[in-house]
Amino acid sequence: MTELDLMTKIISLCKRRGFVFQSSEIYGGLKSAYDFGPLGAELKRNIAAEWWRSVVHQREDIVGLDAAIMMHPKVWKASGHLAGFSDPLVDCHNCKERFRADRAPRAAPETNVTYKRRADGKEVTEQVRQAGYVCPQCGSPDLSEERQFNLMFRTSIGPIDTIEAIANELNNKSLNKFELRKKIEALIQESAIYLRPETAQAMFVQFQNVVQAMSPKIPFGIAQQGKAFRNEIVTEKFIFRTCEFEQMEIEYFVEPGTETAWLAYWTANRVAWWRKYMSNPQSIRLRRHEAKELAHYASDCYDVEYLYPWGWDELEGIASRTDYDLKSHSQESSVKLTYFDPQKPDPQSGKMGWRYTPYVIEPSAGLTRAVLVYLLDAYAEEEGVDADGKAKTRVILKLHPRLAPYKAAVFPLVKKDGLPEVARRIVSEFFKSGINARYDEQQSIGKRYARHDEIGTPYCLTIDHQTLEDRTVTIRYRDSTLQDRIKIDDALQTVKNHLEKA
Ligand code: GAP
Repeated sequence: MTELDLMTKIISLCKRRGFVFQSSEIYGGLKSAYDFGPLGAELKRNIAAEWWRSVVHQREDIVGLDAAIMMHPKVWKASGHLAGFSDPLVDCHNCKERFRADRAPRAAPETNVTYKRRADGKEVTEQVRQAGYVCPQCGSPDLSEERQFNLMFRTSIGPIDTIEAIANELNNKSLNKFELRKKIEALIQESAIYLRPETAQAMFVQFQNVVQAMSPKIPFGIAQQGKAFRNEIVTEKFIFRTCEFEQMEIEYFVEPGTETAWLAYWTANRVAWWRKYMSNPQSIRLRRHEAKELAHYASDCYDVEYLYPWGWDELEGIASRTDYDLKSHSQESSVKLTYFDPQKPDPQSGKMGWRYTPYVIEPSAGLTRAVLVYLLDAYAEEEGVDADGKAKTRVILKLHPRLAPYKAAVFPLVKKDGLPEVARRIVSEFFKSGINARYDEQQSIGKRYARHDEIGTPYCLTIDHQTLEDRTVTIRYRDSTLQDRIKIDDALQTVKNHLEKA
């Protein structure tokens, strides 16, 4: 299986088995927007739940937040997103492709390149311009100037009729094109708000409220999981980069001077977390950012990278954000976003009690990207033979049992003789315990095993005629295909034990 085959197989499995569908597919689809189907919704929820359990429920020092997607526009002024959250956009004059300059294929300025002219299909040779790149689609160096394209989605709030106001301005013949554009921009800006491009900012903006409500002692963190929106110039690679996605972020507030140690702690913690749920933990690595890659707020940063079919690429960023955000929001809002430690002396005056702006370590992961990563990691094919001795390929999603959409499938061997009733009773025991199980009586047992292997169900329980005689069932393990006969009364506890140990 080549690596690109793997991506094609994952996309096909996602649709066939109900993990991920193209958005609005019956209308031809919306470019690079995806819906999580019945099994994808379960997988995504399970990843988010494991993250929340690990960073909020199993720690004393982190609390959760669930903030609104729409925030005051001043948030984005203070954070720097209004001025600087943009990518360099370029248009190709030849094929009309619109692309990101920083991702375009490089070519030395003034060298000659050959490309196919769209108008007449002829091969032409031209010199690469000073910017030193060509169109990623057709290879032409005949390109527009770069312009900065802000990635935030803008909308408006309140019953303001901006169109009416713009229409009135269009009648104002005294304005030239440039002035008219500025005027319209100002009118739109009056009621403009933005869909958040990251979940992070709410955790800075609500810092004061969280400190007052929870009285945490530094170091402490705020965690949030939810939707974020970016009008990406290039959406790519299935659910790897989309305009609407979900993040799982922590803002961890620390004493100034301790940030290097905490950055080391969080990078190790996060790498271990990702690896815990993987069949191939060596597919995760840590890469430190070079100075030129650092965002305006960061003094240091590491990416947790995964070995995707196209190579190593980002899964989570762990940045040392200094005191940039709390200070910027303090300045913009005139509200003090500081922390008071009564047990530490102020380093300047030497007196007991130190008020300071905390430094921040930010582990920021993509949840929708994590769905792709865990599917890629879990996909396996095994060659074998079927009951008639013919060669066949077994497709397995070796998902970690805690991430698997269904923890157990329960099959009656036949749809009669009271076997379905027994199987349904077992399923309802699972439901009562809060464990997602699936009753399945469609097709042969072999096909049912194959179906559940392909969607990652780790344990299959089969009810047969022997069950009626001695109250035992078979449990089959997905990865090894080994089977055990266990007491029916132990079935739920056996699966629970496996889930706890996993
Ligand atoms: N608060 C910091 C921040 O948002 P980021 O590196 O821009 O940092 C963090 O985003 C993570 O969010 C990325 O590592 C990635 O997993 C995910 N992410 C970012 N943009 C995305 C997109 N367009 N589609 C899917 N996931 C995205």
